[in-house]
Formats: sequence, C-alpha cells, structure tokens
Amino acid sequence: MKILILPDAQSASRRVADAITAQVAKKPDSVLGLATGGTMEPVYTDLVRRAQSGGCDISRVTTFNLDEYVGLAPGHPQSYRHFMTERLFAPLGIRDEQTHLPTADAGNCDQVAKDYERAINEAGGIDLQLLGIGHNGHIGFNEPTSSLASRTRVKTLTERTREANSRYFREDEEIPRFAITMGIGTILDTAEVCLLAVGDAKAAAVAAMVEGPVSARCPASALQFHRKATIVLDEAAASRLELRDYYDTVHPGGAETGL
Ligand code: F6R
Repeated sequence: MKILILPDAQSASRRVADAITAQVAKKPDSVLGLATGGTMEPVYTDLVRRAQSGGCDISRVTTFNLDEYVGLAPGHPQSYRHFMTERLFAPLGIRDEQTHLPTADAGNCDQVAKDYERAINEAGGIDLQLLGIGHNGHIGFNEPTSSLASRTRVKTLTERTREANSRYFREDEEIPRFAITMGIGTILDTAEVCLLAVGDAKAAAVAAMVEGPVSARCPASALQFHRKATIVLDEAAASRLELRDYYDTVHPGGAETGL
C-alpha cells in the first residue's frame, strides 16, 4: 500500500483528481471504477473544471460505479445514477452508453449482479478504481462481515450507513435498506485502486484498514492484498496511524518520490 498524507482535504482530493487525469492521459479509453458520496464531490468538481478549461479530455472512458440502491430508478434524485449524471457524466460529455451502474429492483437483483460482473470482464477489467471508505470500514457497500472473496451482489445496509446517507434524503423519504455493490473480490481484481479519505470521522476506519489485521470486520483491510493500492489521506484522516513516521519518510508531504 502506498500511503500519501496531504496537508488538507482540498490537496488530498486534488491528488486523486491528478491520478485520474494521469490515467486518462496515458490511456484515453480507460475503464474507470467510480464511487459516489460526499468525499468524491470535490474530486468530480475538480475534474469537470480541468476538462472545461481544456486541461484534460475524459470523454472517452468507460465507467463502472461501485454500487446503487436497490429500487431507486435512474431518474430518482437520490439514485447514484442521478448523482453521477449531474456531477460528472453530463458536464464531461460522457454518454450513458459508456457508463454502468447496477440499477435493479427487488425482482432482478441476481441477474443484474451477474450481468454487471460479465460487463466488467467484457470491458477488459477496471484500470483504475476510485474508492471512499465508510465510518465502519466499508468499501462500496461491502459492510462489515462481507466475504473478502465476494462478487457483485445485494447487501443489506447497516443502520449506521443508512444514517450516514440520510443527509441526502428528505425527511419523509424512506432510506433504502438494500444496495447492489461490487464485491470485495471484484475490487481486488482491478488493476489499481485509489482510496480517498478525509476528516477525523474516518481516522479509526483508516487505521484499521492500513494497520489492522486483514479481517471482514473492516472490509477495507482487504486492500492490503491489492497489488497496487494508493491511499490518499488528509492530516485528520491520518491522525490515528501508528506508523506515521514511516509514511512521512517514504512520501514526505504526500510526495510520490519514494520507493
Ligand atoms: C459510494 C461508496 C461508499 C462511500 C462511503 C463514504 O459509492 O462506495 O463506500 O465511498 O460510504 O461515503 P462519504 O464519502 O459520503 O463519506
């Protein structure tokens, strides 16, 4: 794992936008794995700004999002499809046909999950997977005790996750109980991952992911088995890491000069 600690949330999200820009410059038709959530918003805003000022062209990518709520139609304002269209796909000129989310209702989840795995394989696999992390250590919606070998499937959301995501729903709206998510095995198969975590509310989950034992108790700890994982943190999210001196020695200030 490469641990990059940046001074603040803004420079950390800029660093992740740099990674995506570099990937697309190297391979314009990259297959990108994308995430939603508050952590990703500044990354996507930055990418749109860069593309609109001519700094990069991200219009030729194929994308696969990590997850989607079961039962929310693509047009639903709280669906992840809507989130992605508003914040990234439409502003960057990425057409619907280039993008994939596991949109399903209760009746066809298993088929949608199977088709999703097949579509990822047919696209040649994911070149770069973007990840956030939940307070409980989830990646995608792989909640604690998820199989570390899991593939795309339905998961029941924890109450903690539903509560964390309730900020996106109106008070009179029911927060979905189920989501379809890429599995941990699916994420481990990607060529490269870049996980972004900012703020002290993520510090405990980050410490468990990076320095804890590999355990389904903290699904993100499975990334210790990933061949190429970069963890981008701000100072607050890094505040509970015990081997901090080492990360600073290898990558001072989050610089990538170290080996
Ligand atoms: C969403 C996803 C989740 C989020 C995580 C953090 O597609 O995969 O794992 O990355 O819940 O969410 P925020 O960034 O809102 O704290």
